[in-house]
Amino acid sequence: MNILDVDDLTPEELHAVLDRAAAIKAGREAPSLTTRTLAMIFEKPSTRTRVSFETGMTQLDGHAVFLGPEDIHLGHGEPIRDTARAVSRYVDFIMARLFDHADVVELGEYATVPVINGLTDDAHPCQTLADLLTIHEQFGGFGVDVAWVGDGNNVCQSFVLGAAMTDIDLTVATPEGYEIDDGVRKRAAALGNPPAETTDPEAAVADADVVYTDVWVSMGQEDEREEKLRDFDGFQVTADLVSDRPVMHCLPAHRGEEITDDVLESDNAIVWDQAENRMHAQNGLLVWLSDAE
Ligand code: CP
Ligand code: NVA
Repeated sequence: MNILDVDDLTPEELHAVLDRAAAIKAGREAPSLTTRTLAMIFEKPSTRTRVSFETGMTQLDGHAVFLGPEDIHLGHGEPIRDTARAVSRYVDFIMARLFDHADVVELGEYATVPVINGLTDDAHPCQTLADLLTIHEQFGGFGVDVAWVGDGNNVCQSFVLGAAMTDIDLTVATPEGYEIDDGVRKRAAALGNPPAETTDPEAAVADADVVYTDVWVSMGQEDEREEKLRDFDGFQVTADLVSDRPVMHCLPAHRGEEITDDVLESDNAIVWDQAENRMHAQNGLLVWLSDAE
């Protein structure tokens, strides 16, 4: 089974993964993935994803192998399908952070062990697992209103699906032209809970219990920087916009762009819990996947 986006899990499976994550985090469960190895393939940089998966595997008595862009033949002539088949002969799970979502789909098609998407241009399911764990911890459940303010790409799109599967009331505010993909909108609708959408950040946060944002210039979009800074004018998450609401950010943050320094440094920011929960959520996922195989 591959986890290329959140809705590769059923809502019941998603809740089971989150329950497992919470139990491991609380020490109620101490599962072991001894002798298991996770390959971690990165085409893009990473702090949280790399460190949380690697330390997670250490905590679970397993092992993780870091494979950066210069370490393997992928991207230097060896096709994805060959990497997938060869690496599957050694390891028990593959996590990959790639640019093109079609590439992680191909990796999943040819691998014979579970493939976990560690972020593509279109999706970031591991981030959503951590976000849901964080929301559950902060609010004691999922009956919350979340306002997304910013780009409607990878992190937002996976969160839209996660919100649809947990009945979170989500409003997404993006500038025109940066909305979520229609395919994601339809998948959220099929799950019974599509987000409300607007181009007005103030309207989005009006009834919100928590405000969530992400960078305006994602990895690989550096050439679009000037254009994006212009297009996202008015979407900055400021102290005025959030008032006393908790604030989420997947990180890394570009202070002074999508979020002000004072908001990120304030007690309202729950971003460090989100970052920590990457590891617990992924530990829950790895153990759940290992049981499911
Ligand atoms: N949020 C997240 O995925 O962070 P990294 O890019 O540091 O892995
Ligand atoms: N949207 C950001 C998320 C980083 C975790 C990016 O793709 O760079």
